[in-house]
Amino acid sequence: MKGVVLAGGLGSRLRPLTAVTNKHLLPVYNQPMIYYPIQALVNAGITDIMIVTGGNSAGDFLKLLGNGKAFGLKHLNYTYQEGEGGIAEALSLVEHFTAGDSVCVILGDNVIEGNISAAVRAYSEQQRGAKIMLRKVPDPQRFGVPVLDGARVIRIEEKPNEPKSEYAVIGIYMYDREVYDIIRTLRPSGRGELEITDVNNAYIERGEMTWDELEGWWTDAGTFESLLLASNLVAETGANNQELKSEAGISTTV
Ligand code: DAU
Repeated sequence: MKGVVLAGGLGSRLRPLTAVTNKHLLPVYNQPMIYYPIQALVNAGITDIMIVTGGNSAGDFLKLLGNGKAFGLKHLNYTYQEGEGGIAEALSLVEHFTAGDSVCVILGDNVIEGNISAAVRAYSEQQRGAKIMLRKVPDPQRFGVPVLDGARVIRIEEKPNEPKSEYAVIGIYMYDREVYDIIRTLRPSGRGELEITDVNNAYIERGEMTWDELEGWWTDAGTFESLLLASNLVAETGANNQELKSEAGISTTV
């Protein structure tokens, strides 16, 4: 299974912090934001990773991350998204990299307390389709929100005014090789983006979507409030269940 961190987009909700730099290079407590999603993949045993970047300061990702030594990696792959065409558009750019393999996608502004190993293992046994992760939140209207029928997700609504559940669809998704064909059928939404929620709804319609509930806290860091919250949560409890390995060649938890 390949891993992808999506760190494109223009970070407009964080201006002026993002006027000259990329949102994912901003600090979340004591590390750049992008360290957290990379570490989350590595902790789940996913070490073949591509970073999709874009907007300002794309070259700084290479300077900061190099070949991924800080995570015990030997190599990192990079690609560039022009403009802000949406999460699904950013994902479409990794088709050549995943080359028929399945993929675990994590949004570059998502920070988690725990570990996604169990969900990744469960997905590996699933053979085909997709898996999303849900988490109860106090403000579901800010996110993709699942409509549930018992334990079954029957639809996902993107930022609904009246959320039909207390859950958010967090920014960690697992897909089979079909995902790129699905993205090719999408049309831009009202905000002019190819929406990851439309991808997920396509898998739901095919009857090929499963979900797991994330344990531990989760937050995005794409607004002033959530960026501050992410820093405070990391400062209070730590993230990703372990300290970063700072030395080269130290293997990370699988
Ligand atoms: O955080 C989880 C939420 O992320 C989900 O619940 C929503 O369903 C999903 O649409 C998304 O919501 P946002 O509108 O908050 O996403 P945002 O535009 O802030 O983008 C999140 C990350 O995705 C961003 O940090 C980098 C990446 N991205 C985004 C866009 C629009 C790209 O790589 N390229 C893009 O064009």
